Amino acid sequence: MILLKTKEEIELIRESALLVGKTLAEVGRHICPGVTTGFLDRLGEQFIRDHGGIPLCKGYEGFPSAFCISVNDVVVHGIPSDSVYLKDGDNVSVDCVIELNGYVGDSAYTFAVGEVSPATQRLMKVTKEALFIGLEKCKVGNRVGDISHAVQQHCEKNGYSVVRELCGHGVGFKMHESPNVPNYGTVGTGPLLKEGMVIAVEPMVCMGSKNVKFSKEDGWTCRTKDGKMAAHYEHTVAIGLDGPDILSSFEFIENN
Ligand code: MF3
Ligand code: CO
Repeated sequence: MILLKTKEEIELIRESALLVGKTLAEVGRHICPGVTTGFLDRLGEQFIRDHGGIPLCKGYEGFPSAFCISVNDVVVHGIPSDSVYLKDGDNVSVDCVIELNGYVGDSAYTFAVGEVSPATQRLMKVTKEALFIGLEKCKVGNRVGDISHAVQQHCEKNGYSVVRELCGHGVGFKMHESPNVPNYGTVGTGPLLKEGMVIAVEPMVCMGSKNVKFSKEDGWTCRTKDGKMAAHYEHTVAIGLDGPDILSSFEFIENN
């Protein structure tokens, strides 16, 4: 069942989503060659708690950390570790879900570590564009498939592929609600978008093939099968009458 939110509830989700945006910026400020993803996770968790939030990834179905931090061929669900050192040329996606005053925001951003190659820069740019092209479809009367199709089209016409195994989702009262929001699909299909719906749109985009594998050791880490780079951006958005009301924000991130 798709749970609709009142205007007041949407404002509370916005508060939470804005703290996610500020947290991503705070973590992003500390990203540079030589830092570990474990260090970034602890620093970010402290920031969330200092601002009255709860990092919802921690303990979610046994996930051990406050953030998913995913480097290079890790598409999503990377587990932060003191033995994963960032190096010049890496890309690193930081995915953050926060509960604040009982409401949930979810957003992710892929950062460059030092100087990344033109090919990596282009992947990041196209993935972020795909997010905003998908968000443009988030208005009353459209369908989920319109978002999915727009994201897929933009990625594929640029020579990239989109992951099939994982999707965007409803969000706000909990981390994961109905409906699923795939990054591939057909115009005019899927659930109708209504006023009061809040969803997370999150393209997961591969430079090579769309196939991924999940780590047998930790059960979480999602890597591209071909070992090529991936990128991931995510916003929490309320479906508006005339267009998207994007509740999370990248505005706090330097040079975003
Ligand atoms: N933030 C992710 C999402 O967009 C979920 C992370 S999975 C978790 O759905 F286990 F780490 F919570
Ligand atoms: Co999400």
